Amino acid sequence: MKFDFEYFKTAADYINDRTGGFVPKTGLILGSGLSGLAGLMEVVCQIPYQDIPNFLVSTAPGHAGRLIFGYLEGRPLVCMSGRFHSYEGYSYEELVTPVRVLKLLGIEELITTNAAGAINETYRPGEVMLVKDHIKFNGDSPLRGPNIADFGPRFFDVTDMYTKKLRQLAKECAPKAGVTLHEGVYFFMTGPQFETPAEIRACRLLGGDAVGMSNVTEALTAAHMGLPLLAMSLITNMAAGVLDQPLTTEEVNRAGEEAAPRMEAFMRAIIRALEARDNG
Ligand code: HPA
Repeated sequence: MKFDFEYFKTAADYINDRTGGFVPKTGLILGSGLSGLAGLMEVVCQIPYQDIPNFLVSTAPGHAGRLIFGYLEGRPLVCMSGRFHSYEGYSYEELVTPVRVLKLLGIEELITTNAAGAINETYRPGEVMLVKDHIKFNGDSPLRGPNIADFGPRFFDVTDMYTKKLRQLAKECAPKAGVTLHEGVYFFMTGPQFETPAEIRACRLLGGDAVGMSNVTEALTAAHMGLPLLAMSLITNMAAGVLDQPLTTEEVNRAGEEAAPRMEAFMRAIIRALEARDNG
């Protein structure tokens, strides 16, 4: 049967064969325009997504599509360079695959980055929002369908899914990296169209601070497994209607490129702090 425990284990077994059983401690999922972070790693092994049985293949521009295993600041990592979105045509159920496979490989926490538009008018492009909660009123749950108890319970708590301790650790790292940090609510929209100004006004009324088309499927998959999670939104633009100008992919990508050195320093500092935490 599709999407049973064996389905995900088949992918993990294949990967373990290719890596010789490399056990990553942290999983990184890098968003649009932010995949340069993978270049910081001391690489041990790279596996294109298309080689992995039962894995998904990335179609979004700017998403390279491979798993990269290696070390950063001495910490063993697996990095997904390129991620999957519902707007690419994947079902919400399929979108659980990467995070479940990373968990089977042994990760102890997940760090994700994404590009997002600022709903909160005090935010500016180039700044970073730590996701402290999200709103997902669009699309199905990735946990819909028969529950696989090996991963987690049917009904599960998501009160602290964006792990407070990891947010605290990130807050301590931000000043060293020159990152202006906010903490706020990520509002998920399906895309691929950017939002209408009226939708953004509604998102603001409902309590959203930043809007994006990713993050939530991975976050919910992690929460189902009780996997600690740190999610960060790079603000790439003011959301639709905040400024009197249209949104463009170029604007989003440019902001990603400009912020890359700060995001890299920030990620390095976070990984270093995780290593220090674990090594007492
Ligand atoms: N809306 C949705 N997704 C995004 C945006 C936005 O304004 N910017 C970057 N990703």
